[in-house]
Formats: sequence, structure tokens, C-alpha cells
Amino acid sequence: MSYYKIENLEQYFKHYKKSVREPRKFWGKIAEENFVWYQAWDKVFEFDMEEARFEWFTNAKLNIVKNCIDRHLAKRGEKTAIIFEPNNPEEKEQRISYNDLYARVSKMANVLKDQGIKKGDRVCIYLPMIPELAISMLACARIGAIHSVIFAGFSSSAISKRITNSECKFVITSDGSFRGNKKIPLKPIIDEALLECESVEKVLVVNRAGIDIKMMEGRDLWLEPLLEQASPNHVAQVMDSEDPLFILYTSGSTGVPKGMVHTTAGYMVQTAYSFKNVFDYKENDIFWCTADCGWITGHSYIVYGPLLNGATTVLFEGVPSYPNPSRFWDIIDKYKVTQFYTAPTAIRALMTEDYSYVNSHDLSSLRVIGSVGEPINEEAWHWYNDHVGKKKCPIVDTWWQTETGSILISPLPFITPTKPTYATLPLPGIQAVLMDDKRNEIEENQIDGSLCIKFPWPSMARTIWGDHKRYKETYFSQFPGKYFTGDGALRDEVGYYRITGRADDVVIVSGHNLGTAPIEDAINEHPAVAESAVVGYKHDIKGNALYGYITLKMEGEYRDRENLKKEINQYISSHIGPIAKLDKIQFVEALPKTRSGKIMRRILRSIANGETKDFGDISTLINPEEIEKIITKTI
Ligand code: WTA
Repeated sequence: MSYYKIENLEQYFKHYKKSVREPRKFWGKIAEENFVWYQAWDKVFEFDMEEARFEWFTNAKLNIVKNCIDRHLAKRGEKTAIIFEPNNPEEKEQRISYNDLYARVSKMANVLKDQGIKKGDRVCIYLPMIPELAISMLACARIGAIHSVIFAGFSSSAISKRITNSECKFVITSDGSFRGNKKIPLKPIIDEALLECESVEKVLVVNRAGIDIKMMEGRDLWLEPLLEQASPNHVAQVMDSEDPLFILYTSGSTGVPKGMVHTTAGYMVQTAYSFKNVFDYKENDIFWCTADCGWITGHSYIVYGPLLNGATTVLFEGVPSYPNPSRFWDIIDKYKVTQFYTAPTAIRALMTEDYSYVNSHDLSSLRVIGSVGEPINEEAWHWYNDHVGKKKCPIVDTWWQTETGSILISPLPFITPTKPTYATLPLPGIQAVLMDDKRNEIEENQIDGSLCIKFPWPSMARTIWGDHKRYKETYFSQFPGKYFTGDGALRDEVGYYRITGRADDVVIVSGHNLGTAPIEDAINEHPAVAESAVVGYKHDIKGNALYGYITLKMEGEYRDRENLKKEINQYISSHIGPIAKLDKIQFVEALPKTRSGKIMRRILRSIANGETKDFGDISTLINPEEIEKIITKTI
């Protein structure tokens, strides 16, 4: 029997048991039957949890792009691989067939090679959601270069940190991008970022927005003329299973972002497998994930997961509110989308609009609808179910992380009965556990614990680029022998998981992971600021918003507090990006600190959420009198 597709609940339990008892057989069979390999593996996996070393499909040889494109050509050459829906609904869409995709990726691969990129080199991709973004990712993977996609909303200083960290040799960018009714220059941001990066030799530029930009002689090249001349054929590079496929940065609880490294074979096997099952993918489906390829969701479920299954995937350049709040529903209707995968923050924003926007559209093509990135609250779940799914499409509330590579906990549509706010059951292969503060496994129901995974899975990140020690310490030291997710969760009486939120200093704002430490670092750069503490508080649309408590150095000089707030937010914008701006700023005399000098963020978080009593144990505070002051006044 095949393990690739789970057909019913009984089979789910059977596959799950098999995956735990005989993980080698389970994953070995899936890998063998559903992909093309140049050479088979010696061992399905090998690992050392203590040292955080993991290998999957040891010594096998493959190319993931051959699996995404080449092997489909005989049967699906004329089938649409990517539908590109531009920001402006008046601009014609592009339907890129598997044959076209092969040619476009091959051309890009040849350009990269001709310009000097070799296997193992790092290429930074800083592009809007246009076909060239997916094509660049695939071209890198085709020649064995490691892509590092940076979300096109990040600022120049955030970019230069990432480029420097992974020593990227090339950058692929565009003159600019369209977002709603705005035209945003991108190349100038790269120019500024590169003032501080020594590793970058060339910048390849896509002409998207028709913006007048400066090209630096000897470094910058327009892509189109190079692509025109390049050959549309390319033989994919032979890669080892454990060769890095990409680096993707995610926020951590210190200032330096973590460059999560994903490798080739394990990532391929599990993104394909999870895509097939979580979205109940069938041959003629039209799949649409609204994420940006700058995040892991876009990597795994716009590009790799769908293409590995020979699917048609929609790539949307724009925003849900442009030209009006029915854009998502227009697109679903226009392409007869069958699976729609979005974030709770988008749902909450669309919920506040007139219901006629959604209800006037024909959404009857939809079969499965999904949610990702943060807990979906009950109200949003019901609205999504009633108005988008019309009570007939199962909602797959998918829990996973940049680090996990693919979805780990999720209902299977038409198989797992859903329950609002619950991500429900782990997929086969995923041994989830909840741990208490004493590092014991929690057996009981309805008790909040730390969510850990006690056995490796194929698509897990293998390391943090250049810092294996940090990888080991962040994920494998808190609960020895287990991977710690950083999330809290509880389990109900049937074993369903509900994710309760982050257990560390990461706040999820509108579905974006933001570390509070780098934001504080940016604030502290302002000459007036002495110290700052940033926490998350509940927000109706964004899920969480950011609240900054700030103490000042030179009080007299900054009497105009409103102006100072603006300046501080500009600092954040230029150091990280506008997504990390504070919604509320309160200037205070002092921050509550423990005897060892740590800011007690727990209390600040409660106050930001309007809770002004019962702070629990505050005996370790050196200045408890400050709490009352923070509640009652700002300076
Ligand atoms: C949160 C996004 C609740 C969680 C794929 C996780 C979720 C972090 C869910 C990872 C969900 C993701 N329910 N919380 N269905 N999905 N999260 O790395 O806190 O951008 O640790 O990956 O998002 O965010 P990341």
C-alpha cells in the first residue's frame, strides 16, 4: 500500500502508528514511490538529538527542480503551473505552463551560471510577488545555489544584516513594485543596503515598475536582455540530499536574525507530502496561498509543495484591499480556486468590511480553506466558515514554523472533524508532546505546556547559518532530547492540540514574526532614548500589536512627545521595516526590573493588555513602586 495519501480517519491512525513504530519504512516508502532520484539513499535517517545533527536520505542524489518541473513535462507540459495575478486587475494575468516554466527557469539558471554563480553560492532574492521571484528560487535550486529570499518590505539595514550574515554573492531585485495604488522603489533600498555588504559582486534587476533607477557600472545588470539571449535548456545539477537548498531568516529573541538552513531531500519529501494531504490535492485543482514568498509559507505552499505535485498555483502580487475589499473573492471566482490558504489577520480585516463584498461572489469552486501563521480566534473561524466556506469547506488550521519547513499539526480535510481554534492532530511522523516547567511530559488534558517534538522529521531546518551552537541552544537545550517549538499549547480529551501562543520574546503581528529585541535595539539608537521594552498586546485585526515602554535620556530637549514618537517609529522603519512600527508608545520614568537587572516584561505585557491588578509574584522586583506609576502616568 502507498503511504502518500491518507484516505480516511482509520487510515490516518494506521499511518500515524506506522510512522512512529517504523519511521524508516514509512518515510522510505514515501520517498521512493513519489519522487525521482539520481541515486538512492544508504539510510533513511541518522541523527544525534544532543548535538542537533540530522540527516535524511543519507547520500542520495537528486535535484528538487527536476522533481518540480522536468518530470511533469511528459504528462503535464501544457498544464498551467503558475497563474500570475498582477496587482492591478486591469493588467492581464500570466498563465505559465510547465513547459514555459521549464524554459524560463532554465534561462534564469543559465544566466546565473554564466554570470559566475556556482553550486553552494548564496543568492539573495529581494523581489515583489512576480513570476521572477518563483523562477529565481527555482533557478538557484536548479544549479545548486542557495537562495535567501528577503521579504520586499524589509529595510536596507535589515537586508544588509542578512546579506552579510550569509555572504551572498548576487542579489536579484527589481526596480520597484506595485502594491495597491502605490509604486514602491526597491532597487534604491538594495543600493543603500549594499553600501555595507562586501560579498555582493552583482545585482540582477528585473524591470517591473518602470521606475527610473541608478545602475552601478560593473555591478548592476538588467535581467531581461540576459534572459533573452540565454538558452531555454539546462541540465539540473546533481545535489546531495543534505546540500542546503535555501536560507530563510526568522526573528529570534536576540538582535541577530536566525538564518534557518533547509536542505534538499527531506524538505522536498515532506512539503510534497503535507501539501497533498492537508489540502486534499487533486489533479485539476487550482491552489491559492496568499502568503508572500518572502516567508516560509510562500516557499513551501506557493512554490515547492504545489509544483512537486504538478499542481496549478496562484501567485498574487497585490493586497486584499485593492482596488476594493472584494479582491480575494474576485480572484477565487476568476480562476475557480479550489483551495484557499490565508492568514487570520487577513480574515479579521476582511470581516470588518461590508458582508456584501464576500456574499456577492460565486465561491462555489472552493473545497478546502486554510489558515496559517497565528492562532485563529473563534469569531474569525466562524466568519471564515460561514461566509467563505459556506459551511461546506473544512477549515484546515495549520500549525508550523519556518524551522519545521512544512505543516506539522493540522486537520485533514473531510477526514479529521474540525474544532474552532484547534489545529487538531499531528500529521504522521510528527511526535508532538507537551512539557511542564519541570521538563516532564504532560499526560493530562487541558493543561497548558510547552510544545515539543520528540523525534526528527524530514523537513526540519538543519542548522542556523554559521551558528550551529545557537541552533542547538535555541531548539534542543530547553528540553533535552526534544525540539522545542517556542510555542505554548494544550490538548483536549481526544488529543487535539490548541496553540496558545509564543512562550518567548517573539510577537506575531499580522502574521509576521517579530522579535522584540531587535525592535528595542532600533529604538535605543535614538539619541533621546535611555532604555526600552517592547511587548505585544491584543489587537482586533492584527492579532497582536506592539506597545513600547520607553525611558528618556535628555528629557528637556524632546518636549514634543508626539514628534518624538514619530521619530522613534522612523528609526524602527529604517532599521527593520514598517511592519515593526509601534502602535502605542508610553514614556515612563523607569522600567520594572528584577534584582539581576532583567526587565520584567510579563508585567508590562499585562499592563499593555489593560490588566492592572494581580501581577503574581513580584518579589524579585527591585522597584515595585514603578508599576503603579506606569499604570497611572506617562511622562
Ligand atoms: C505561529 C509560519 C497558531 C506559532 C508558518 C509559530 C500558529 C509561528 C499557527 C511560526 C497556527 C503558525 N495556530 N499559531 N495555525 N501557525 N503559528 O516561522 O507561534 O513565520 O511558532 O511560520 O507562528 O511562524 P513562522
